Amino acid sequence: MCGIVGYIGQKDTKEILLHGLEKLEYRGYDSAGIAVVADNGVKVFKEKGRIADLRSVVDDNVSSTHGIGHTRWATHGVPSQTNAHPHQSDSRRFTLVHNGVIENYRQLREDYLSHLSLASETDTEIIVQLIETFVNKGATVEDAFRKALKKLKGSYAIALIDEQDPDTIYAAKNKSPLLAGKGEGFNVVASDAMAMLQVTDQYIELMDGEVVIVTRENITIKTLDGVVEERAPFTCELDVNDIEKGTYAHFMMKEIDEQPFVIRKIMQEYQDDNGRLNLPEDVRQAMKQADRIYIIACGTSYHAGLIGKQFIEKLAKIPVEVHVASEFSYNMPMLSENPLFIYISQSGETADSRSVLVQTNKMGYKALTLTNAPGSTLSREADYTLPLHAGPEIAVASTKAYTAQMAVLAILAVDTAHVKEIELEFDPIQELSIVATAMEALTDQKDEMEYIAREYLSTTRNCFFIGRGIDYYVGLEGALKLKEISYIQAEGFAGGELKHGTIALIENGTPVIALATQEQVNLSIRGNVKEVEARGASACIISMKGLEEDGDRFVIPKVHELLTPLVSVIPMQLISYYAALHRGCDVDKPRNLAKSVTVE
Ligand code: F6R
Repeated sequence: MCGIVGYIGQKDTKEILLHGLEKLEYRGYDSAGIAVVADNGVKVFKEKGRIADLRSVVDDNVSSTHGIGHTRWATHGVPSQTNAHPHQSDSRRFTLVHNGVIENYRQLREDYLSHLSLASETDTEIIVQLIETFVNKGATVEDAFRKALKKLKGSYAIALIDEQDPDTIYAAKNKSPLLAGKGEGFNVVASDAMAMLQVTDQYIELMDGEVVIVTRENITIKTLDGVVEERAPFTCELDVNDIEKGTYAHFMMKEIDEQPFVIRKIMQEYQDDNGRLNLPEDVRQAMKQADRIYIIACGTSYHAGLIGKQFIEKLAKIPVEVHVASEFSYNMPMLSENPLFIYISQSGETADSRSVLVQTNKMGYKALTLTNAPGSTLSREADYTLPLHAGPEIAVASTKAYTAQMAVLAILAVDTAHVKEIELEFDPIQELSIVATAMEALTDQKDEMEYIAREYLSTTRNCFFIGRGIDYYVGLEGALKLKEISYIQAEGFAGGELKHGTIALIENGTPVIALATQEQVNLSIRGNVKEVEARGASACIISMKGLEEDGDRFVIPKVHELLTPLVSVIPMQLISYYAALHRGCDVDKPRNLAKSVTVE
């Protein structure tokens, strides 16, 4: 969603800010802007659309070494040039960018700003007007900033510049991520280290309720009451190459191809030198003591949770419930006596999941976060974290993070089985190694996937995915992948459920992608395929070696039945990719979507 960058140093800031914003494009946005402090005042450039559109309106002749920038994903007010950030105060002295949502903006407007006519429909403008109002009443800028922050209810990461002070960026955060970055003779702020990796890898994490005053030489952190806090920077381990496409046309394809390496990396990270699983002892004890596990997640991570339930129940013998975070927060089921909450989140910043975590923390329940972003909000606020080790995932459609989530869940389940002295019939680590090899074989068959996408999906307006048991959950993920990037209406169904209503939608040529990787239900799912074919559907069966029959459209290599989702999802990802490509869609940045969904 929204992104923030800020730079104060010696170099021309425009290109640094624009480059930084380009690195945040993957998070999803609909407009962008920068503000720079030039010799003759603050210059603001903003535009609806892509950073390329913003670049076309930035005046090359303006030079400045101090500025802030923003990518906006609309919440309050339509995507437009007027609503794009930065926003300015009435006199234009103060200029501000903001991520998050100010819940009490109407009240604040009524209480303090009724004398002003506002330029935009945003909640953000309220903040900058409030700061100026307090300064006009005699407060220093820093005091006015802190006073305004104390009045805000909601989430924010903010960067502020003052036309009368060419030496300072003020920034603050509450529930939205923000980092301050250190350099030699310059300093930066960014909502994501990726944005400023080109200038520094030294970052200081800011905490909720803190203000940071950034000059060319210093970064000073204070509480909202003005007490100075000391914090050492950390080195951001991200490799600049990890966030470049290299020779790939799209990040999504690069990330699909990375999956075998990610699985091997996870196996390496979660084993010691003797090949024994090395999960933290406190995680082990939390799993062992739980009488029921509640998995909370959204979207693709929720789908990984559904597979995780199978792993944990079948291997570690602990009952598991999987819940969509946005529903759970107000519709909590009866909880067991000693629950453990597992939050699955690629970004670690998803507001819906965090809202549940805040509640379960208040209730005193233990929480474990599985995330690709250790140090993220969900990681910091949970008792324990298991990293996904997938490397940065840039494409909006999640691929390698999903398979990484399943792999870590499998390892967690196996480890818990060991701790509980439950004997397993197979060596899961060896099986994961077979999975990685099978993934490689699949990513080598892209031509075939492109052909399937062309044959079944090039003109259709809808598509169904069916499966039984664990295949059903992969079908849900296949449908989500297809709809989010190709805009084809796609739904995943349990094979047996279709005839209870949805089969009415089957017409001549309706594509139905059926998964058949589970021996126990192989005949039943094939029966469901016959039912839809009898009504004109164009069925595409994807089966597993050993269960294949004549006429199956694609056969995936044999892996352990329980682990098939890690492999069978790859054709789903590739078919979706090609369907989107054939339809001319923006594969990496699908419309309306954001990579990190930081609003509820
Ligand atoms: C779909 C996708 C989303 C996310 C969801 C949760 O490809 O990426 O459905 O899975 O927004 O995000 P995280 O995992 O960051 O909590």
